[in-house]
Formats: sequence, structure tokens, C-alpha cells
Amino acid sequence: MIIPVILSGGSGTRLWPLSRSMYPKQLLSLVGEGTMLQETVARLQGIADAGPMYCVCNEEHRFLVAEQLRQVHANVGGIILEPVGRNTAPAAAAAAMQIQKEHPGAVMLVLPADHVISNPEAFVRAVGVGLDAARSGALVTFGVIPDSPETGYGYIKAAGDGDVPFHHGQPRKVLEFREKPDRETAEEYVSSGDYFWNSGIFLFRADHYLEELARHDPEIGIAAEAAVGGATRDLDFLRLDEEAFTASPSNSIDYAVMEKTGNAMVVPFDAGWNDVGAWSALWEVSPRDEAGNVKKGDVLAYDVHDSYLHASSRLVAAVGLDDCVVVETADAVLVAAKDRVQDVKAIVEQLKAAG
Ligand code: GDD
Ligand code: MG
Repeated sequence: MIIPVILSGGSGTRLWPLSRSMYPKQLLSLVGEGTMLQETVARLQGIADAGPMYCVCNEEHRFLVAEQLRQVHANVGGIILEPVGRNTAPAAAAAAMQIQKEHPGAVMLVLPADHVISNPEAFVRAVGVGLDAARSGALVTFGVIPDSPETGYGYIKAAGDGDVPFHHGQPRKVLEFREKPDRETAEEYVSSGDYFWNSGIFLFRADHYLEELARHDPEIGIAAEAAVGGATRDLDFLRLDEEAFTASPSNSIDYAVMEKTGNAMVVPFDAGWNDVGAWSALWEVSPRDEAGNVKKGDVLAYDVHDSYLHASSRLVAAVGLDDCVVVETADAVLVAAKDRVQDVKAIVEQLKAAG
């Protein structure tokens, strides 16, 4: 059985002002019909032996998450509530502990809640390709052919033919996993043609993940065990023990385990994956009109090209713009050059600092 584990704890800061801490990116409908969380659930449909799913999220999002899962009739095994965010390694560890109790030896499919995958059939196929390797103990990742030296991703060097061909049907051994390299290194990796991007989707047995974690970052596993041991159940909600989980070190699966394990495999992944981290990525994956504009809501444009225009609460009119992003909400408006949208993060930091 494959137990899906959806990680829904990020805050999507670069999609401000739409994405907010109370209403983060994954709980918004940005590309498809449903919210990104709901699209993640929908994508699981083709997985024949999928069991009940777990969603790991912050306590403060519990009602939104529960309601969104209910709307799409998700087969929910539990909604695991974190009192604080400790990044993905503890979130996955808590899920793994719970899965070991309820479905010992099951393979877990760890899914970010905030990605776009335009070809869900290819996603389902890729999961099938990785399954045997995961069952026999590998930590399986899904690797995307990179098209730019993004520094926000993990990079994976796989064994086999040098030019990273797409051999669907066989996972390859990971020779090196490097999380978020600097620009220069990322450029080298991309031009070498030997590296995949890590898509952030993982397939492994719950017990093997916990073993690897115990080997490479033991405090996280200890904290997760105590947090699940002291958890209280209330309908679908599994509320982790606050003190125990808060005591966990904060780290991602990528740094805590993937960079260190000698036991990883990568499945080449060509499924129209995009992690829509910033407005420019959203422009890329959304339907555009003949002038190249994405228009959401009450928007009028005259002589505007290749721009993303989003109105939430009033009419937005734009004249004579190229490659711009305009996002209007009731209490904040963003106007940015499309090639500078990574820096929206800096605005959010300024806002936080200002309290
Ligand atoms: N429950 C929970 N708790 N979920 C979390 C937490 C947390 O504390 N922190 C992050 N998440 C969720 C996010 O919502 C997202 O769905 C997923 O876990 C990945 O976290 P990100 O914070 O978005 O990671 P990243 O984008 O910096 O890097 C990861 O994804 C890249 C691809 O998008 C890494 O796996 C990289 O190697 C990878 O290339
Ligand atoms: Mg991300």
C-alpha cells in the first residue's frame, strides 16, 4: 500500500500579497479549479494501491485544510497538526511514526501541497516506476531536467549515461544530492548536463526513512516519536505533543537525509512539474491571451504584453506595460517587474520587521 503524505506547512512568501500566513499559497486556487492542496489530492486518483492519506499542516490551518479535503472527498487517514513549523524532516518523521503504527511497512509518498503537475498520468507512471526500489529500501526521489541555474532547488547527480536521458521504466542510483547550491555551482551543474532538479516528491518506506533519520539527524526522530506518542486525536485531527515537537531541530528532508544517505534512487520525472514559487512561474503555467497576458478577475488592459494581472476586490486597469506583475488585494497591491519577482520576499521581510 502507498500512503500519501501531503506537506502543507509552507507560507509561499514570494506570492505575496495573495499568499499570506493565514492563507498560504497551497490553500489558494492559483492555477487549476481547486486549490493547490485539492489539485494535489486529485492527482492521486490514478494510483491504484493508494491508501488513506495524511496531511501535515500547522495547527492554525486545520479548519481550512479539513474543509478543503472534505470538498474533494479525500480519503483521509489523519490531519497531523504541528504546533510550530520545524521544516519538512520533522513533519515527514511525525507522519512516518503514525504510519508505522497504522500501516507498518507501508511506503509513503511525500508530496508538497503547492506544486503544479500538468501531466498527472506521467506523475502516476513515475510513482509506479519508483515503487519496487522504495519497497526494497531506497529513498526514491523524482528528478526534473533543469532549464536554469535555480538556487532554490536540490540538485541530483544520477548514475548511468552522462546526458541524463529520460529512461522511463528504471530508477537510477543517486551519486550526489546537493541542496540549494550557490549560483556558480548551480550553473556548473546545469551546464554539465549530469544533474536533475529535485522535485521535492519522495517515495520511501516509513520505517526506512526513520532509520535513515536516526542515522543522520537522530534528534529529529526522537522528537517526532515523543510528539506522536503524546499526540491527542480529535476526529481526523492528530494534534502533536506541543512540547516534544517544539523541541525538534528544524531541518528539511533534503539537508537532514537526502544529502547524507547512500541509499537514494532517482526516477526521471517529465510531468510538467513546476513549483510555482513566484509570480513569474505562475504566469508561465497559466493560460494567456493573445497579448501574452494572464488576467485574473476584473482586469482591463490596453497595450499590455506578457504580464500577470490579478484583481481580487476591484477593477484593475493597466496601460502600456510589458513584462509586469500587478496583483491587487483588498489591503495590498503589488506592482513588480516580472524578472524581479523573486525579490517580493524582501518586501515580506520588510513587512515582518515593521510588525
Ligand atoms: N507540514 C509542514 N511543515 N510542511 C512544510 C513545512 C513544515 O514545517 N515546511 C515546508 N513544508 C511544505 C511546503 O508547504 C512545501 O509543500 C514542501 O513542504 C516543501 O517545502 P519548501 O519550503 O517549499 O521547500 P523548498 O521549495 O525550499 O525546497 C524543496 O523543494 C524543491 C522543489 O520545489 C526541496 O525538496 C528542494 O530540494 C526541491 O528542489
Ligand atoms: Mg517549495
